Amino acid sequence: MKFFIDTANLAEIQEAVELGILDGVTTNPSLMAKEGITGQDRVLKHYVDICKLVDGPISAEVIATDFAGMVREGEALADLHPNIIVKIPMIEDGIKAIKYFSQKEIQTNCTLVFSAGQALLAAKAGATYVSPFVGRLDDISTDGLALIEQIRTIYRNYYSFDTQILAASVRHPMHIVKCAEIGADVITGPLSAIKALLQHPLTDSGLAKFLSDYQKATV
Ligand code: G3P
Repeated sequence: MKFFIDTANLAEIQEAVELGILDGVTTNPSLMAKEGITGQDRVLKHYVDICKLVDGPISAEVIATDFAGMVREGEALADLHPNIIVKIPMIEDGIKAIKYFSQKEIQTNCTLVFSAGQALLAAKAGATYVSPFVGRLDDISTDGLALIEQIRTIYRNYYSFDTQILAASVRHPMHIVKCAEIGADVITGPLSAIKALLQHPLTDSGLAKFLSDYQKATV
């Protein structure tokens, strides 16, 4: 399973790179705004800065919601760097744009996916990744992980689908572990969720005991 980090914060991305387990980055307009990155030129430069930090897929989202606008923006994003994945919302024109990009062999990430039917359409259109939002479904008392399972079953049923399931809006370590059990291809979430995988009280107490026994034995 690949680990992407869901942030536009360069320091956080660098920390994840140094951890040695990072495969890629996802961003969205909210995450860019959170970092104060505004205006088209600064946004494009920021994507290039992220590409310099991480040698892996970097999702960059279009703002347009019409086919022509998505194609124009997506082509400009794809021209920035070979690792850019054009992120496109799950709307009617978005499906047309994903099909267009798939025919041009430009990689896409279909975002804002909340149902199995939407994931089926994304795969039919040839999306490289589909992003079901696990945490946001949980937020409205709907089982986000059940959706990942449902999409896995559907994609497994049809070998011609090579769309990768990118479990997004992952919020905590159990989301990641459950996604791994289900067989999601990729998870994306904050570094805090990824680093929480490290934690176990028996690791901490066991290490403390090893170190104190070592000290006692060497006095
Ligand atoms: O990748 C999608 C993600 O940015 C949404 O996460 O935590 O805002 O629901 P969240």
